[in-house]
Amino acid sequence: MKGIILAAGRGTRLYPMTKPVCKPLLPIYDKPLIYYPLSVLMQAGIDQVLVIVPPGEETTFAALLGDGSQLGMSIQYTVQPVARGIADALLIGREFLDGDDVCLVLGDNIFWAPDLAAILKQAAADNRGATVFGCYVCNPRPFGVVEFDADGRAISIEEKPENPKSNYVVPGLYFYHNDALDIAASLTPSPRGELEITDVNLEFLRRNQLQVIPLQDKYLWMDAGSADSLLAAAQAIHDLQRSTERYVGCIEETAYQEGRITRQQLHQLGAELDMTAYGRHLLSL
Ligand code: G1P
Repeated sequence: MKGIILAAGRGTRLYPMTKPVCKPLLPIYDKPLIYYPLSVLMQAGIDQVLVIVPPGEETTFAALLGDGSQLGMSIQYTVQPVARGIADALLIGREFLDGDDVCLVLGDNIFWAPDLAAILKQAAADNRGATVFGCYVCNPRPFGVVEFDADGRAISIEEKPENPKSNYVVPGLYFYHNDALDIAASLTPSPRGELEITDVNLEFLRRNQLQVIPLQDKYLWMDAGSADSLLAAAQAIHDLQRSTERYVGCIEETAYQEGRITRQQLHQLGAELDMTAYGRHLLSL
């Protein structure tokens, strides 16, 4: 399985901050936003990642993440020429995937759970078509909303419904069989002019190949798309790191935990950042 991070949105809801700097490069407390979805892919056991960025932004992202070799992985970059929706990422990634299955994550989604690495690895291993998650939120209207039957099976998903059938929404993390690419290719744009990822999920649901895993009470999911959610996310990460004494979205630590880099390589990465608490954390591991 390979990974794709869709980080190509213009982030207009964060103007003027995102005029010169892409949203996934903005800070969430002590690290850039894109570290969080990248660490999710790494914890799922993925070591080949394609980052889809806005036109002209490959070098900015590469200046931060390089070719991934410092993390014991491979990171490539490509652009989404026109904002055509999340499912378009599957079409853009066809050559990169080269027939493999894919884990697609949105560049502004932040996940944390004590056992997240285990949940992700299980989802990658158990995937029978599509595996997505269900997160309980107070206001589900701006999201893809999933409805469950009495046995906990997903029976419908609606994108941004007026009258949501539940409070469970599908966050921006999708495990797909390679069939998803042909499904995405067969879609027509929605009224908002986008190839909807919800339509891909609905096709897997129709085929009886969609698994929706509700995340249980001890987890955090946030999408940092507005000034308020950016602030809330930064505060949540700060508080979580204080209370658990563990770092969230720490890609260097994840690379070490996943056995991709040696202690010495980790030490080197920490030494480069030893003017920060983040770097000193790496050195303390
Ligand atoms: C997108 C998806 C939606 C999903 C959400 C998660 O919404 O369309 O189904 O719940 O991401 O962040 P958008 O960011 O396009 O409004």
